[in-house]
Amino acid sequence: MGRVSGKVALVTGAASGIGRASAELLAREGAVVVITDIQADKGVDVAAGIGEAGGKAQFARHDVTSESEWAEIVRRIDKDFGRLDILVNNAGIAVGGMVTDLSLEDFRRQMAVNVDSVFLGTKTSLPLMRKHGGGSIVNISSVAGLRGSARLSAYCASKGAVRLFTKAVALECAAMKDGIRVNSVHPGIIDTPIWHGVMPGSNAPLDLDAMSAFRVPLGVKGQPADIANAVLFLAANESRYMTGEEVVVDGGLTIGSI
Ligand SMILES: NC(=O)c1ccc[n+]([C@@H]2O[C@H](COP(=O)([O-])OP(=O)(O)OC[C@H]3O[C@@H](n4cnc5c(N)ncnc54)[C@H](O)[C@@H]3O)[C@@H](O)[C@H]2O)c1
Repeated sequence: MGRVSGKVALVTGAASGIGRASAELLAREGAVVVITDIQADKGVDVAAGIGEAGGKAQFARHDVTSESEWAEIVRRIDKDFGRLDILVNNAGIAVGGMVTDLSLEDFRRQMAVNVDSVFLGTKTSLPLMRKHGGGSIVNISSVAGLRGSARLSAYCASKGAVRLFTKAVALECAAMKDGIRVNSVHPGIIDTPIWHGVMPGSNAPLDLDAMSAFRVPLGVKGQPADIANAVLFLAANESRYMTGEEVVVDGGLTIGSI
């Protein structure tokens, strides 16, 4: 038996990076995984790869900023599976730049993809989760939701919002005794495409190895699988006594420097 056997999971932004690794790991551990993203070709490939490896997955194109698309994906999961046990609110973007160089449009785009998405996903999924007496919501925040980072003010604002939204909803669920736990994960420097072109005017990937050697106590960047392991733990019953918690996976980045 896998650690999430018999459960139905929805992972947003799962065509790439941390979402992809989380979807693959949840499927390996027995969940049926619904993969969503705006990158349809890549999402279809991820679902096919899971199928070839013996897991169960399906892809749906889904823009996490759209309320109507959230309603549609949850309706489809209800119709196909009749339940939703795990929601991983993972889709995100990073809009970099000095605050004086950011437009209101940049700021709103950052908040729409990273925060509206988590609000809409949570609000839309809770009724279906409650129908089956429980579930686990895992929100992907960041170390940027725990402390400031120059030239990432909009991103920090979005990830700080995800952190406290998580705790507030965790308390609402606990008060209702609905069996739903809500936690956040805070990755450090993880090797994914999100870093490409994060700074305006540059499409070059940042040198994550050099950055990590300098700033991360463990000395190396993390991999998507490092975050997927935390997601799996929070999704599975092993973490049944954790809610509103923030799980930091950052090689020691936020505890200080050596
Ligand atoms: N990589 C890191 O170092 C790091 C650190 C901390 C937090 N995070 C967070 O992890 C999460 C995953 O990022 P990643 O690093 O895997 O990046 P990634 O770019 O590899 O993956 C993000 C995915 O989100 C999708 N996406 C973007 N906008 C979307 C939308 N409107 N609707 C649906 N999907 C959308 C993208 O198409 C992409 O597949 C993000 O929330 C990110 O902020 C990443």
